[in-house]
Amino acid sequence: MAGMKVNGTSTRAIWRVAGQPAVDIIDQTALPHAYRILRLASLEDTAHAIRSMQVRGAPLIGATAAYGVALALLRDAGDAALAKAVATLGATRPTAVNLHWALARMQAHLAPLPASERGAAAWREAEAIADEDVAQNRAIGEHGLALLRPLAEKRGRLDVMTHCNAGWLATVDHGTALAPVYAAVDAGIEVRVWVSETRPRNQGLLTAWELQQHGVPHTLIADNAAGLLLARGEVDAVIVGADRISANGDVANKVGTYLKALAAKEAGVPFYVAAPRSTLDFACPNGEAIPIEEREGDELRVVHGAGSDGRPAALRQLPAAEAVANPAFDVTPARFVSEVITERGSAAAHALATLYPEECGA
Ligand code: MRU
Repeated sequence: MAGMKVNGTSTRAIWRVAGQPAVDIIDQTALPHAYRILRLASLEDTAHAIRSMQVRGAPLIGATAAYGVALALLRDAGDAALAKAVATLGATRPTAVNLHWALARMQAHLAPLPASERGAAAWREAEAIADEDVAQNRAIGEHGLALLRPLAEKRGRLDVMTHCNAGWLATVDHGTALAPVYAAVDAGIEVRVWVSETRPRNQGLLTAWELQQHGVPHTLIADNAAGLLLARGEVDAVIVGADRISANGDVANKVGTYLKALAAKEAGVPFYVAAPRSTLDFACPNGEAIPIEEREGDELRVVHGAGSDGRPAALRQLPAAEAVANPAFDVTPARFVSEVITERGSAAAHALATLYPEECGA
């Protein structure tokens, strides 16, 4: 599976700027209306990028945080600065455990080193985290393809539904949920992706944009259309990503995932979750223990897009005084998940420990 392309050029979602103490990202708040590269050169830049969702998606948040630690240590590589960087980045978003996984890995790697060696070591470790993400997602693509191929053979084509954006934009490259889709396309399978809009932040538009860049046929739907399409037999499989999977296999992912899982179960359609090791939280017993991010109400009250002149525009659809609730994630119980696809293969959600025996004493 080749890397993803923007306007025909291979591009990661984050990369180190050659010869400079900085990383570049694709500003995901500008997409799909504008393709803009942003340069991050400090701890504050990276924390802001994660908080404001210029970068988003669990694996990409983790990789960005790792680079953020490296940028912080350029200024001060002492113990206090390292601890501050980890704490600052760790407070940006609560649900995706990849963030905390990456920060714990950076801390464990750097803390035992003398301060004079930490800067270079931090860049190496951040690059390793990014490269491993790419390799793991490629493997998820292959394992996912093994599940999708029989479904495609039955019908001579494949209609997949996804939610939010768990494509290459949400990772360093390839994506998690979309990696099997890209692998299926590469294998010559005729694929169409049902892309759900994903109110309120409309990450489905990011999915549509990246599928378009990769030439994958897709159709955008309102979130509320998913049940009908599943009931009508127009979907062969649902594939989503995850922000955190607890030890018992419950899956936290973008709000609305749970409704799709319920509808898929009723319709007898397989519901797959694709996630790398960094999304698995074996220390978290179950879904109830997963912190669910509550985001600001204006994400519902104000709609962002492009005006008739093509420039970014905001439209208020609800007065500021209207009460809104904006939980950004929900939890799908393990029993609604057909398989979790990881870089080590796939397993029932409740049996993930069998894929990672060294981590769970299984
Ligand atoms: O709030 P977001 O856009 O960061 O949420 C992203 C998701 O919920 C994704 O499905 C998840 O992070 C998996 S990304 C490979």
